Amino acid sequence: MNVLFINIKELIQVRETPIAFLSGKEMNVLPTLKNAFLLVKKGLIADFGLMENCPDIEIKTIDATGKMILPSWCDSHTHIVYAGNREGEFVARIRGRSYKEIADNGGGILNSAKRLQTTSDEDLYQQSKMRLEEIIQLGTGAVEIKSGYGLTKDAELKMLRVIKKLKEKYPLQIKATFLGAHAVPTAYKDNKSGYIQMLIADILPAIQKENLADFIDVFCETGYFSIADTQQILEAGKKHGLVGKIHVNQFTAIGGIQVGIENNVLSVDHLEEMRTEDIDALKNTKTMPVALPSCSYFLSIPYTPARKMIDAGLPLALATDYNPGSAPSGNMNFVVATACIKMKMTPEEAINAATINGAYAMGLQDKVGSISKGKFANLILTKAINSYHFIPYSFGNHAIEKVFLKGEIIKKS
Ligand code: NIG
Ligand code: FE
Repeated sequence: MNVLFINIKELIQVRETPIAFLSGKEMNVLPTLKNAFLLVKKGLIADFGLMENCPDIEIKTIDATGKMILPSWCDSHTHIVYAGNREGEFVARIRGRSYKEIADNGGGILNSAKRLQTTSDEDLYQQSKMRLEEIIQLGTGAVEIKSGYGLTKDAELKMLRVIKKLKEKYPLQIKATFLGAHAVPTAYKDNKSGYIQMLIADILPAIQKENLADFIDVFCETGYFSIADTQQILEAGKKHGLVGKIHVNQFTAIGGIQVGIENNVLSVDHLEEMRTEDIDALKNTKTMPVALPSCSYFLSIPYTPARKMIDAGLPLALATDYNPGSAPSGNMNFVVATACIKMKMTPEEAINAATINGAYAMGLQDKVGSISKGKFANLILTKAINSYHFIPYSFGNHAIEKVFLKGEIIKKS
């Protein structure tokens, strides 16, 4: 698709020289061009600059007077392939039961797994594609999707095949993550090592054979998978060509970040419970810390200490964690607003965290996450707004007028 956007009030996240990710003080700088043009050719960003240098060519033109353009959100952590919902648990928590209590009594991840195991491939695809279409309309142009609600070989592969089909059918960038180590299924209740063995010996080779995943994930947490389990699973993943991305420090800090770093994981996600040594361990590494403020909001648990982390010089990405139990929302606009309101990130830091740093957390920094020549024209065109500060300011709402993937307007279906 070829298109020329003209009279853009402000073109946001303009990076002439490619960057991989931003850390510390750099995160507070968000480069923009005022009164700009943006040229898209064959779905890619071909050129951009000030209106005074706008090329005079015969091409479909969109006048963006009063409006802004930014790269689509990059949501590096979701579980959008799932079956059914868990409103019952939500109400039970309102009435006083805890997330842990519910999970310990067969609810939580095991509840979702039970439902998914008896859901057909087609039904699972239909339910998941609705959520994918919903997040596209909310401005997401690149997304990571995890398995982990199957917990049997068949059901995990079913989830990964649904992700593969979504990849084939939709124009946004999708990365797939194998999260077999999300919980120990009931059948292995007293035999966790047997379950891990099954993941490694049985499922991983099947995933590699069908090329179903890019990353491997582990829920490294007290009562789920230990440091030693995490080490074993990450190592096995590497042997099958999968880079690590781990769920860690959500409820307890047990040294998971350190084991992640030793295994060169691409990202460590959640981080609601951070000790000084955890922050120190992340310094000068290539591992991206990822905060999931919608999960903190929904479960009423602490927010990731973003201020402390960024002030210590670390990078940070923001993602939704869209899943049926701890964050049933895929709205990156809400995530950006909540990061500003509750985590005291500046709008510049939050937008950088939700675009270029999110892209890096999926290994997609060369393809999306900034306005740079040669990247996909996955774009958000805002409504007429005064400043980009309005984006987090208008929490619970969004400032999006239209979304574009590879330069093409994506209409609501
Ligand atoms: O990222 N923490 C582990 N897994 C998911 C939630 C799982 C669930 O409750 O279904 C998360 O929060
Ligand atoms: Fe998650």
